Amino acid sequence: MIIAVDGPVAAGKGTLARRIAHIYKLDYLDTGALYRAVGLKILRAGRDPEDPAAAVDAARHVGDVALDDPALREEATGEAASIVAANQEVRAALLQYQRDFAKRPQGAVLDGRDIGTVVCPEADVKLFVTASAEVRARRRFDELIAKGTDTTYEAVLEDLHARDARDAGRDSAPLKKAEDAHLLDTSKLDIEAAVNAACKIIDAA
Ligand code: CDP
Ligand code: CDP
Repeated sequence: MIIAVDGPVAAGKGTLARRIAHIYKLDYLDTGALYRAVGLKILRAGRDPEDPAAAVDAARHVGDVALDDPALREEATGEAASIVAANQEVRAALLQYQRDFAKRPQGAVLDGRDIGTVVCPEADVKLFVTASAEVRARRRFDELIAKGTDTTYEAVLEDLHARDARDAGRDSAPLKKAEDAHLLDTSKLDIEAAVNAACKIIDAA
């Protein structure tokens, strides 16, 4: 079984995908971490994420970054990730790894932006997880404050709008709901309620 979970920034994709993986005993891949690793590699090299040569070079050596590096979760890394993610060559360099992961015999859950549309169009279940920008910004703000980051709700909301616009507006694999994806709006759902709603969809598939 392959489950695709897509959606905008801080919609709750990762939290939901991890829980689904645990419940259905599937392997989990956070594909955003791959793009974040490319962004982080560029930032650490002192190069510009807008520079296509730097982006492609970093994507080819993305294996150098540990996927549990805490710097991957920083806002600056997310921003750099969304810039490099608009580069077609970067996306192509990361595609095979994601497709191979999805084909694991035990099945897999992948979360990202283009899993249901590009990486695994054949997925058995596709979830498009979303929530209002205000709710998503509040969730991300709370996470950042809990980690001790010095920021404001307004700054987080502004960054989130910018990243959503870049992710949905790019030519290459833009963020969009696959036609056969189930829409899951978690604006008024806590994590338990979102997991229950997702399980209903999966069990009915
Ligand atoms: O992976 P993505 O950026 O879409 O979001 P996430 O990291 O899974 O979730 C962002 C934050 O929202 C986390 O702190 C979750 O605990 C929280 N969350 C929530 O409060 N309610 C939900 N229904 C889903 C996530
Ligand atoms: O957790 P959050 O929603 O903040 O972002 P993420 O899932 O970690 O992804 C970081 C960035 O990588 C996104 O803003 C996208 O630009 C890019 N990305 C992508 O283009 N395609 C994917 N399948 C996953 C992430």
